[in-house]
Amino acid sequence: MKIEKVGVVGAGLMGSGIAEISAKAGYDVLVREVDDDASAKGLGRIERSLNRAVEKEKLTADERDAALGRIAFTTEVDALADRDLVIEAIVENLEAKNALFGHLDGICGDHTIFASNTSSLTVTDMAAATNRPDRVVGLHFFNPVPVMKLVEVVRTIATSDATVEAAFAYSRAVGKQPIAAKDNSGFVVNLLLVPYMLDAIRQLERGVASIEDMDTGMVLGCGYPMGPFTLCDFVGNDTTLRIAEIMFDEYREQRYAPPPLLRRMVAMGRFGRKAGQGFYDYSGDQPTPLPI
Ligand code: CAA
Ligand code: NAD
Repeated sequence: MKIEKVGVVGAGLMGSGIAEISAKAGYDVLVREVDDDASAKGLGRIERSLNRAVEKEKLTADERDAALGRIAFTTEVDALADRDLVIEAIVENLEAKNALFGHLDGICGDHTIFASNTSSLTVTDMAAATNRPDRVVGLHFFNPVPVMKLVEVVRTIATSDATVEAAFAYSRAVGKQPIAAKDNSGFVVNLLLVPYMLDAIRQLERGVASIEDMDTGMVLGCGYPMGPFTLCDFVGNDTTLRIAEIMFDEYREQRYAPPPLLRRMVAMGRFGRKAGQGFYDYSGDQPTPLPI
């Protein structure tokens, strides 16, 4: 299972990072987005991230250009037919992911491995939508992908040893530390992290403290790199809502239930940093908390 050509589906927060690290590692990368506008946004994210690495002297300008030269964009799913590995990072929605994998199953080679970057869905549900469940695996990256070192490699009851080995090898090749995770909703990290984020929103609903003070509390009191509301905005409140709905549906435990305030935020389009507004407003020099 030699991987040379990587396909990435979705060039949002996660897909753009996955494309970037794959190209930096020398893979030939083809990214599929829904339209030219979304492709341009994804490419812009990759360019900004690579430029930042050049400014910080972690990458030379030649290496940046070489990495960019290895990334192409398409709006055609069928263009992914020649890929050895396809990683999806589209919306957190099982129907959308199954439709994608079902289509890819009909056009990709028998050897092609399908990977999902899902946060909370089970990979088994996606594998069941294909005729190659032994070649379907979870590759759960963390945001921001170029910085966070972890990848959860998720094995279903049907994933073959060869697929798992290829997923570990690819993860190491892109500079990540893989850990093995079972295919339970939330895997290892989100099982613990998501209740923490949701609980912070519940405490805000209860009026425990302000957004800023709760963020400052967790940064200065516990040494977390960002407080829970900055993190919610960073992950995307729309994505967190979907994750919470999926995990609550799976476990029926209150700690995964989406707090009403999170629904209100999403209804108002306050998706977080990517939308310019979330718990904070990002239009000025510094994020400022919005009234809740
Ligand atoms: N892309 C590329 N590089 C980035 C970046 C980005 N989006 N954001 C930051 N960086 C780099 C910077 O260039 C900088 O590099 P150097 O150390 O070489 O200087 C480094 O990261 C630190 O950045 P900054 O100094 O600008 O900012 P910071 O110290 O505040 O760190 C952070 C930023 C790395 C994002 C840090 O705040 C952090 O670790 N936050 C927590 C992130 C987290 O918890 N992620 C997991 C989210 S949950 C998830 O992903 C799973 C899911 O399914 C929802
Ligand atoms: P995002 O909203 O930033 O990006 C999703 C992108 O997918 C959008 O650009 C959209 O145009 C594109 N898209 C939607 N349907 C598509 C299709 N059929 N083909 C091609 N592109 C399509 O979302 P994100 O935060 O990058 O999350 C993507 C996936 O990664 C989700 O499954 C999410 O749960 C998971 N994830 C997110 C984070 C995070 O912190 N945001 C971390 C780990 C995993």
